[in-house]
Amino acid sequence: MSRPTDFFAYKNNVLTVDGVPLPEIAESTGTPVYVYSAEGLLRPFRELKKGLEGLDPLICFAVKSNSNVAILRLLANEGAGMDIVSGGELYRAGIAGVPGRDIVFSGVGKTPGEMARALEYGETGIFSFNVESEPELHMLSAVAQHMGRTAPIALRFNPDVDPKTHPYISTGLKKNKFGLNRKEILEIARDVSRYPGITIRGISIHIGSQLLSLAPLEDAFKRTRALLSELETLLPEPIRFVDLGGGVGITYRNEKTIPIPRYCAMIRKHFGPGARSGRPLKILIEPGRSISGNAGVLLSEVLYRKMRKEKDFLIVDAGMNDLVRPSLYGSFHDIVPVARMNGVRKKTDVVGPVCESGDCFASERPLPRKLDQGDLVAILSAGAYGFAMAGNYNSRPRAPEVLARNGRFELIRERETYEDLVRGEAISQPSRGRESAART
Ligand code: LLP
Repeated sequence: MSRPTDFFAYKNNVLTVDGVPLPEIAESTGTPVYVYSAEGLLRPFRELKKGLEGLDPLICFAVKSNSNVAILRLLANEGAGMDIVSGGELYRAGIAGVPGRDIVFSGVGKTPGEMARALEYGETGIFSFNVESEPELHMLSAVAQHMGRTAPIALRFNPDVDPKTHPYISTGLKKNKFGLNRKEILEIARDVSRYPGITIRGISIHIGSQLLSLAPLEDAFKRTRALLSELETLLPEPIRFVDLGGGVGITYRNEKTIPIPRYCAMIRKHFGPGARSGRPLKILIEPGRSISGNAGVLLSEVLYRKMRKEKDFLIVDAGMNDLVRPSLYGSFHDIVPVARMNGVRKKTDVVGPVCESGDCFASERPLPRKLDQGDLVAILSAGAYGFAMAGNYNSRPRAPEVLARNGRFELIRERETYEDLVRGEAISQPSRGRESAART
């Protein structure tokens, strides 16, 4: 699986992306800026596609990990579908031109309005709603009936396995809010006539994110298979697909991760042709991080070096509003100087300008002593859940995004302006400053 510097390599001692030196990008857009490698996005996608060949696969990119429309379009052009979790993500998929037959809708709190939009998306509506509770099923059935449609659904199974990842991103334990347990699913299946607006086509699972071993996934796959056999006799129509979720981890530091070919082989073993009699199952997966994670960096400039005896602080121009993962999960992101530096290293805290002690990207990290004001640093592995989780805290405009491909780069999102910051706020009342400006 991908590593932080797979797509960001030093050439002539300068960090580059898809043939573009990062300083060129910083020069053009300013910093902080998110920079993505097209190669970095496409390679893992193609690897998954190859691994699942022949399984009638639909690889639905988890839009939540990186929602930029240009990136969705890049992946959609390669045949990716999209896994969405909100009306906003559906809207983005629409702009990216993703057909409805390639979209699945996950999430525990779909509103009736979102359901309606997804039902009327394109000409056909979306491929599947992954339903997470019985009341949601009722609501979806009612919304679909009201519109004179039938909603294709998968029931999201919570297999109650421990994915052994960060508790904030584990989702497949019975204490988690996600999915339906075996009993609930069987009850629904026994009484499908209670939901006239839906048709059950699949079973979906997603047990957590940043998984580093196949064991919990295999456990979940086995439980899903067992459930599928139980359902066979209960449902009026056979299940057509399984959606196995996302979750495959990446290397942030030196973690050993799941090799994609082994992951795909395991899927084939449990759900491929021959896994059940009759028509083979269609296979869906919802990878996010494994595609986008190591395809992006957050490029930032050092504003100040604050020297202390015990350790120095590097104050950079990116903050926790730009990349919240280290503050929120204590997660590790490698940080490297854009111009390669040798020499003495010193323990350094890399911090942002936001007024919170938690605004810290790295703590006591040995970094070159020479790194100083005006130097560029790249915060690696920031392509997934980076910009997508960015906000405006401290009234900081969100950073621009750039996509590099074959020696060129393109601005795929502009830096927000101060006007963007106050859009929608009640600013029509002229301020004193404005009044006096008008008088002169
Ligand atoms: N499918 C469903 C239903 C999900 O909930 C998720 C992620 C995915 C697919 C994609 O999972 P991936 O392949 O990216 O692991 N903000 C956290 C990660 C939250 C993941 C939420 N669900 C982070 O920064 O680590």
